[in-house]
Amino acid sequence: MKKDYSEYFKGPSLKDARKRFKEDVHHIDDAYEIPADMAGIGKGKTYFIKTYGCQANERDTEVMSGILETLGYTHDDDLEHADIVLLNTCAVRDNAEEKVFGRIGMLKKIKRENPGMIFGVCGCMAQEEVVVNRIKRKMPQVDLIFGTHNIHRLPQLLKAALLEKETVVEVWSKEGDVIENLPSHRAKDKKAWVNIMYGCNKFCTYCIVPYTRGKERSRLMEDVLREVNDLKDHGYLEVNLLGQNVNSYGKDLDADYDFATLLEEVAKTGIERIRFMTSNPNDFSEGMLRVINEYDNIMPYIHLPLQSGSTAVLKRMNRGYTREEYIELFDKLKELVPNAAVTTDIIVGFPNETEEEFEETLSMFDHCQYDLAYTFIYSPREGTPAATMEDHVTRKEKEDRLQRLNEKVNYYAHKANEKYLGTVQKVLVDGPSRKDPNVLAGYTETNKVVNFKGDPAHIGQIVPVKITEIRTWSLDGEEVE
Ligand code: 5AD
Ligand code: SF4
Repeated sequence: MKKDYSEYFKGPSLKDARKRFKEDVHHIDDAYEIPADMAGIGKGKTYFIKTYGCQANERDTEVMSGILETLGYTHDDDLEHADIVLLNTCAVRDNAEEKVFGRIGMLKKIKRENPGMIFGVCGCMAQEEVVVNRIKRKMPQVDLIFGTHNIHRLPQLLKAALLEKETVVEVWSKEGDVIENLPSHRAKDKKAWVNIMYGCNKFCTYCIVPYTRGKERSRLMEDVLREVNDLKDHGYLEVNLLGQNVNSYGKDLDADYDFATLLEEVAKTGIERIRFMTSNPNDFSEGMLRVINEYDNIMPYIHLPLQSGSTAVLKRMNRGYTREEYIELFDKLKELVPNAAVTTDIIVGFPNETEEEFEETLSMFDHCQYDLAYTFIYSPREGTPAATMEDHVTRKEKEDRLQRLNEKVNYYAHKANEKYLGTVQKVLVDGPSRKDPNVLAGYTETNKVVNFKGDPAHIGQIVPVKITEIRTWSLDGEEVE
């Protein structure tokens, strides 16, 4: 079913993006079109996409690559001579944004030497009006700006950019529908990202994502299963089911299934390895725990962002759970899935976080003993509620807290790895390790990186590896027969 999208063309507005409309989301499988005069336009030409941020962006890059290849372009790592360069950006923290602005600056000179290049900025930053205005005012080297909701219109947008002298901007503040049947060029041939839903309705007070990615929209279960089965038929061994909060899967649909149902159905496809991310502790269901425990092909690895160990801070963050509720869930998870590795995300220095509140985060590590944690200093995001909160914590204090937290993280990460010493782990071999081409690297079922001596012919297979040494962030080993 086609729809009139003209109301979407207003340009970026975080205020509009905050709204949640009741109207139904449609699942559309014929929205993607190539204008007749764009067919084959990229023959003999190249593209380069730089991806920042999370897995949702990685997956979007795969789709944009697929679209560009359908137009005839081929991928090339040579950014300076590429005919199309896209920066797929992340808005979650200021330092990610500054990196992008640095790269846009660099491209000014490159474009001068390669004036035929089309240079585009897309992804989450493009959804922010401050960013778009700054680019329009000061960065004429950018030919095209588009957001996260209209990727399927890349052929039309590219056509406009090829014709227009001015920067072409098409950003939809209101999320569109769920678009199926887009081409994609997957980055890997054994492990695949599979979107199960888009957007987020949680509105944690620090987070820009509900604005840049719109309201929660689930894909239909039949579409997800078709994709997983197709991947399996093409030799894929692992799928990672993606959503900002996978626990909400299905709630926006008029359907009698939820994430536990989907997970079970994906498990029944028999694909070797299933992962999922991210789970908000707020609506992690018992049904999910049961399914995780029941199926061997659902990997015992759960990313469960805590953000803060203090109930007062969690309240200011609008996380929807208390310290005690998180502990209860965590303990239940460890009881039902004892071999599970659990990782987390933490923000330190949230507005007016006191020393005592910070210490409550530290003490959560003594309880949960996380396998790993990704730690961040709070970064105010314009347009979010937390950005207007009073904050008397100095930068120095925030940095000091981050360092103290990281010491805890590393201590428990090392401790969690100790139990692997001398064991044999099933490792899906990714390829040569980044540091030493004579060493292979891959992931255990619990998502530990293993660098090991093994047979390069086994790249892309799951092999047994004996763990001979442990490090804080990885394991070393040797392949066994
Ligand atoms: N400042 C710092 N960290 C943030 N995150 C999200 N928004 C912010 C912000 N404004 C972190 C959270 C989230 C992870 C993906 O990024 O910890 O889980
Ligand atoms: Fe951001 Fe919270 Fe949604 Fe995660 S659950 S994307 S932290 S608003």
